[in-house]
Amino acid sequence: MGKFQPKRLRLKSGEELEIREARSADAASLVQYVEAVSGESDNLTFGPGEFELTAAQEAEYLEAMAKRSNAIHLLGLLDGEIVASLSFAGGLRSRMRHAGEFGMSVRRMHWNKGIGNVMLSVFLDWCRRSEEIRKVNLRVRVDNHAAIHLYEKHGFKLEGRKTREFLLAGEFVDVLYMGLEID
Ligand SMILES: CC(C)(COP(=O)(O)OP(=O)(O)OC[C@H]1O[C@@H](n2cnc3c(N)ncnc32)[C@H](O)[C@@H]1OP(=O)(O)O)[C@@H](O)C(=O)NCCC(=O)NCCS
Repeated sequence: MGKFQPKRLRLKSGEELEIREARSADAASLVQYVEAVSGESDNLTFGPGEFELTAAQEAEYLEAMAKRSNAIHLLGLLDGEIVASLSFAGGLRSRMRHAGEFGMSVRRMHWNKGIGNVMLSVFLDWCRRSEEIRKVNLRVRVDNHAAIHLYEKHGFKLEGRKTREFLLAGEFVDVLYMGLEID
């Protein structure tokens, strides 16, 4: 059962990364994870204290995600602790079901170990096998060079630029729209 077969992958550090779909029992740890990553970079759309879901609301969200064939929330875990998260949702109406946007993050102490890369590979494999997802979109800050590098490596193409998407400490920051067609 389940739409995603859990995986265990060896990182170049020698650590073993477990990748599996999030379940409602992960809600409390995921809320803690989100609070932690929100303070580790200014690249997400929320800062510390701004992700306002309670564990109960998060559990409901995860349950709803798990039931949808065109949405997935993947977790990356090291020794049972959440170190990465990737969430994607396609549209709800028939004309929009084939396309959606994803967001991802990795705990800062584990950056540059290849975790983002394997999370993205595993997610895109899932999209390709889904026979339903035909387009994956994302938004990324223009100055988030590591993320842009990662997305380009996986074939994402630049589709546009939106100005003033972020306002941080009085400075506007533009975002790039990138997309990958799934064939
Ligand atoms: C973006 C993010 C998910 C990447 O995760 P990660 O586990 O560090 O990714 P990886 O280790 O697989 O890959 C990072 C790549 O960026 C490269 N990189 C790191 N810093 C870089 C920089 N300043 N400029 C260009 N490339 C950079 C690394 O060399 C590596 O590429 P390579 O494997 O081809 O050498 C992570 O940095 C993160 O969570 N950032 C905060 C949240 C965020 O920005 N999310 C994305 C929002 S759109």
